[in-house]
Amino acid sequence: MPVGNITRGTTNPNRLRRVDRWICAWPGLRTAENPLVVDLGYGASAVTTVELRERLLRVRPDVEMLGFEIDPARVTSARADLTRWGMADAHPPIRFELGGFEIPVPRGRSPIVIRAFNVLRQYDESQVVPAWNAMLAMVAPGGVLVEGTCDEIGRVSTWIALTPARGGSQSVGGNVGGPQSLTISLRLDGLENPSIAAERLPKALIHHNVPGDPVHALMNDLDRGWAVHAGLGSFGATQRWVATVESLKTAGWPVLAGRTRWKLGEITIAWGALGRV
Ligand SMILES: C[S@@+](CC[C@H](N)C(=O)[O-])C[C@H]1O[C@@H](n2cnc3c(N)ncnc32)[C@H](O)[C@@H]1O
Repeated sequence: MPVGNITRGTTNPNRLRRVDRWICAWPGLRTAENPLVVDLGYGASAVTTVELRERLLRVRPDVEMLGFEIDPARVTSARADLTRWGMADAHPPIRFELGGFEIPVPRGRSPIVIRAFNVLRQYDESQVVPAWNAMLAMVAPGGVLVEGTCDEIGRVSTWIALTPARGGSQSVGGNVGGPQSLTISLRLDGLENPSIAAERLPKALIHHNVPGDPVHALMNDLDRGWAVHAGLGSFGATQRWVATVESLKTAGWPVLAGRTRWKLGEITIAWGALGRV
C-alpha cells in the first residue's frame, strides 16, 4: 500500500514555475549519472510533471521523469494525458506510477531530485517529519528533496530544501541531512507585502507564524525592509527586493545564494535560523 492519504488533486498549468527554475539550478543535477527526477503527488493532471520535465531537459537532456500519485484514478488519467499529448513513448521516458512517501522507484535507482509540492499542506503537522524521512531515504547522494507550497497561479511560492545525510542515516533530527533552507519566491510586480508568503508556508512552518517565533520575525523583517525601500520602486520592483534582501542580511539573517537569485524575487534562509528540527 502506498504510504499517505489521498487528498484534493488541485493543480494548474505553470503554477510550479518558480520552484522548477530553482530545481533546474540544483548543482547535483548537472553531475548526476542517469538523472532520475520524481514528482510526488502531481494531482488531477499530468501537466506540472510534464512542465518540470520540459524545463529540466534544457539542463539535462537525458533526464528521466517519474510521477507518483497515491490516487490510482489519477495515475490512470495522467497516463491518458501522456497518450493524448503524444508523449507515451517519449525519450527520455516520462512515466506515471502508483506510489506514496515510500517513493517506489525501480530497484537500483535513486532520484537526484524529489519534488513534493502542495502535498503535505493537507496533512497534519505531526506527519511532516515522518514523510520527510521516508522520502529522504530514497534521495541519491548529492540530491535534494524539495517540499513546498504555492498559491493557485504560482505567484507566491515557498519551499524547503532537504538533503540526505552523506554518511548513511537520513533521519531528520540527526546531526546531518534533513532540512537545509527555506526559500520564498514572489512575483514582485504589484507585491504589497512580502508577508503574503505566510499564507503559503510549508506545513512545517505555517502554524508558527506567531509573535516570538523566528518565522514571524522573518515575515515582519521582510515587510519592514520592503516598506523602507519603497522609494527604490521607481527603479523597479527588483531593485526594491534586492535592497530588502540585503537589509535582512545586514540584520543578521543567514541569507543564502546571491543577487542572481534575489533578482528573481527569491530569498533563501538557512534552516537553522528558523528554530525548528
Ligand atoms: C494539491 S495536489 C498537488 C498537485 C501538484 N503537485 C501541484 O502542486 O499543483 C496534491 C496531490 O498529492 C497527492 N498525494 C497526497 N499524499 C500523497 C502521497 N503520500 N503520495 C503520493 N501522492 C500524494 C494527492 O492525491 C493529490 O493529488
